[in-house]
Amino acid sequence: MDPIINAVLKPKSIAVIGASTNPEKIGYKVVENLKNCGYQNPVYPINPGAEEILGYKCYPNIKDVPYVIDAAVITVPAKFVPEVVRDAGEKGVKGLSIITSGFSEVGDVALENEVVSIAHEYGMRIIGPNIIGVLSNSDNMNASFTNFLPLDGKAALVSQSGALLIAMDAATYTRRVGFDKMISIGNQADLDFADLIAYLNEDENTTCITLYIEGIKNGARFMEEARKCTKPIIALKAGTSAHGAAAAASHTGSLAGSAKVYEAAFQQAGVSQAEDLNDMFDTTLALALQPTMKGDNLLIVTNGGGVGVLATDAAEKYGLPLKFAPEEVQAELRKHMPSFGSAKNPVDITGGAGLEGYYEGVKYAYAHPWVDGLAVLYCETSVTNPQEIAEAIYNSIQESGATGKPVAVSFIGGERCEAAMKWLIEHDIPTYNAPDLAVKALASLRKQNEMLATSHNAPYKPTDVDGAKAREIIAAARAKGRDALIEVEAKHVFAAYNLPVTPTELAKTEEEAIQLANQIGYPVVMKIVSPDILHKSDAGAVKVNLKSDDDVRNAWKVIMENSLKYKADAEIDGMAVQQMAPWSTEVIVGSVNDSTFGPTLMFGLGGIFVEVMKDVTFKVAPIDENTALNMQSEIKASKILKGARGETPRDQKALANVLAHYSYMIYDLKDEIAESDANPVIVYEDGKGVAVVDARIILTKK
Ligand code: ACO
Repeated sequence: MDPIINAVLKPKSIAVIGASTNPEKIGYKVVENLKNCGYQNPVYPINPGAEEILGYKCYPNIKDVPYVIDAAVITVPAKFVPEVVRDAGEKGVKGLSIITSGFSEVGDVALENEVVSIAHEYGMRIIGPNIIGVLSNSDNMNASFTNFLPLDGKAALVSQSGALLIAMDAATYTRRVGFDKMISIGNQADLDFADLIAYLNEDENTTCITLYIEGIKNGARFMEEARKCTKPIIALKAGTSAHGAAAAASHTGSLAGSAKVYEAAFQQAGVSQAEDLNDMFDTTLALALQPTMKGDNLLIVTNGGGVGVLATDAAEKYGLPLKFAPEEVQAELRKHMPSFGSAKNPVDITGGAGLEGYYEGVKYAYAHPWVDGLAVLYCETSVTNPQEIAEAIYNSIQESGATGKPVAVSFIGGERCEAAMKWLIEHDIPTYNAPDLAVKALASLRKQNEMLATSHNAPYKPTDVDGAKAREIIAAARAKGRDALIEVEAKHVFAAYNLPVTPTELAKTEEEAIQLANQIGYPVVMKIVSPDILHKSDAGAVKVNLKSDDDVRNAWKVIMENSLKYKADAEIDGMAVQQMAPWSTEVIVGSVNDSTFGPTLMFGLGGIFVEVMKDVTFKVAPIDENTALNMQSEIKASKILKGARGETPRDQKALANVLAHYSYMIYDLKDEIAESDANPVIVYEDGKGVAVVDARIILTKK
């Protein structure tokens, strides 16, 4: 555990620099909150004009305090912050929370950098600036200007928005989701999400880390720390519009957007993404209180057929479709329900079910090895008492002898149900007021388990690649002043990373074209090679299925004429002569260099699927072949690859190999490749491989 971060989050003493006697001021509020929320360690208000504040002795300067100080909370105006940070450094303070606004968020990056560099000079770390502060139930520490500590619990919230943190602090009581810590990180000038994930992973009071994110500064570090984290992380990402996409030059660039790349990065790093604030609270409740779900067997126990059906629908929607319970399970469950109940799945113990039905049914089901996760639903009835049912559910789980699998509960009813739900949550059972939410919670726990299984893998690194050769090709193109490779060069770069490109060579003359066509073997394709003609088909500058020397001669003439008609002064380097690959299923593979997460791979089916449906998926590079296989299942049209309507499945293994090698190429050449496309890539029947037919690489600006 980082001792400096620990000094800010669990300080043994706190100075408040800019503490005030004026109850209207933030510098007063922080001292008041520390006092009112019961912080037990010494508090030293710092103010040049005051003797004491709220009973604490006040000092004119932090350097005047004759005791050791762990952390300082800063509430002086921005222009004074560098000076007080230096004072804190000289005093030997370990870390700072800077509440003050007026730094990079209003454009004053220089002031922010100055403050960070002063802090680092003294080995101090900073949370903020531009924050609400830090709150921790386990230390009764409210070092912030929001009035109270959150409902006590096991989660930790790290929020980039201050206003939202204040609102969520209050909402923890109405939503009954408990947090041990709430940390406002504002501008992340120094400590960022990654640092806090690393810290909270080792914090004994935290079982689940909840993040409200507007932007991540260093995507690679975020992913690295999230991958290392053994506790569940749930993130709500705000600002999901596809900004910047329009300016992108390649096909992939126009399809990528920050939201999709964030989604990919979260999934790869094992971070659950919340859909909205409600989902963030609901999932936090489940992830903080329950273990992950190790298998797909979800069992639903209900006293109402209707809610059972709603839960069944939700199970399918959230990726945990119900299976019938094994016969022995059904037989045992039948003993605890009327003859008109159903023991299949959902298990309907019926409206007549009382305490015994819930107690015996849940106890048996929870302990049975077939059951990986249990959803218990209850509709309020006139013959049952919700509190008694809640206690029966809790006791049955406690007394089942089983542990390590999740349970989620839904109570539907009135005020008595509300009270029973509160009781269940206080006993660490996530309880919701709708059946779909209980099922969704279990689906999150299942997904978390699946993500954890893959997110710790070592980064993919193939050995059958020649990066030096690719760099030579790129350097030669740069030497000619180009910032994009011509297709022939791009294909040679692809080939250096062992991608199965169709043989393609550049012909400068008609005669050379004939020679190359014979060398490659008929039929061939010819395309203009010109930096001025990017959309070759639109210009009539592509001819396919050329079967003879005469066809090549003819194509040379027509392509040349069409190209000059398209752009009279086009600079023409010659024509690409390439093997004509037989047609089959078209896919597109491409990349962008995302400003947050770096090289990112895109995959989708070609033609209409990509043009109209935008049916594509993303992964932060590099990815291994297993991830590449999963990636193929993520697109809506994945059935086509698996062999729709009796067609033979496509060669998904060979495609996975291409995706993995491509991802490594863009990762290895991240300083060189800004964007790239392999479009189309032809995927043949299973066992018959893949051909990369067209290649485009746009270089980074240097
Ligand atoms: N050492 C010690 N005390 C000092 C020093 C110093 N070097 N310099 C000034 N002070 C004292 C002042 O005398 C004053 O105390 P007083 O009331 O006894 O005179 C106190 O520090 C505060 O200084 P003020 O000039 O009164 O500043 P004010 O309290 O009005 O504002 C603040 C300071 C709160 C830091 C303000 O500049 C600010 O940044 N406000 C925004 C904070 C915020 O909202 N953060 C979260 C944003 S996140 C979100 O989403 C909302």
